[in-house]
Amino acid sequence: MFQIVRRLTWGLTQWAALTLFTFLFTFNNAHAKGFEDSMAERTRACTACHGDQGRAGPDGYYPRLAGKPAGYLYNQLKNFSEGRRHYGLMTRLVDPLSDAYLREIAQYFSGLKLPYPAPAQTASRMAPALLARGQQLALRGDAARQVPACIQCHGERLTGLQPHVPGLLGLPLDYLNAQLGAWQTQQRQALAPDCMAQVVKRMDSSDLIAVATWLSTQTLPADSTPAASLSTRSDTVPLPRCGSAPELKGEP
Ligand code: HEC
Ligand code: HEC
Repeated sequence: MFQIVRRLTWGLTQWAALTLFTFLFTFNNAHAKGFEDSMAERTRACTACHGDQGRAGPDGYYPRLAGKPAGYLYNQLKNFSEGRRHYGLMTRLVDPLSDAYLREIAQYFSGLKLPYPAPAQTASRMAPALLARGQQLALRGDAARQVPACIQCHGERLTGLQPHVPGLLGLPLDYLNAQLGAWQTQQRQALAPDCMAQVVKRMDSSDLIAVATWLSTQTLPADSTPAASLSTRSDTVPLPRCGSAPELKGEP
């Protein structure tokens, strides 16, 4: 048993080292013989965690990159390197890369259109009251608590808004809970003014769980691409301004 574990661990270490080596090697010798110089090859170190073509890791821990708005992906890479998000293993890989290259990587993953899997959570297994509250927050917000509806910024189909606002569907429940929780404890921050921090501050933990649960049970619409613009709407709650997404035109 010990032997097997040891061999497995050794195998994994070797594999990680090799991937890292391939990554660095490809960056330094983009035109070296034997390597196809494509973004798919160059981002192998990324897809080792983020899944083939950035489709997400198997367990909900490594987020999907494919098809997310390019400006959003780029902002996240900066958030990691400038300390607004924290994941050491990744930050070390991203830090040496130039700004222009980070934009290129963001464009590359954003352009990959892969189908989404069916939602991992089934609504029938969730408490109806929890789902109803989650749906209310996502689609209508809660004016009494000054919580804007999620669709006011994340788009009517909740598939995000070009170029800086991510979609909220097709994300695993654990990932959603972790991100909302991280905003609550300021482990995750966005460019100031941080509108998501404002939104989360106005919700209590049970509301955060409710909205994450409802979102994780929703099937993506046939057109899962981020919206090009927001349709005209009458906001019941004024939107806080988002430093990371000037296109939302929130109020100071
Ligand atoms: C060792 C595993 C690992 C590697 C390698 C890695 N990442 Fe990540 N990445 C993560 C994890 C885990 C998160 C989520 C962290 C969190 O919850 O804040 C993440 C988050 C991200 C995000 C934010 C996604 C979102 O939707 O908010 C982007 C963008 C990203 N990574 C890009 C990259 C790129 C580009 C590379 C290659 C240069 C890379 N990652 C390499 C593990 C990794
Ligand atoms: C005022 C506009 C606004 C409103 C309202 C809003 N969001 Fe956001 N949200 C954003 C922006 C902008 C980002 C990207 C932040 C960044 O760049 O890190 C974001 C990011 C997120 C993320 C991170 C996604 C990922 O892939 O990591 C989650 C989760 C999220 N929002 C959930 C919600 C929920 C749930 C609601 C409704 C209760 C909501 N948001 C309402 C603007 C908004």
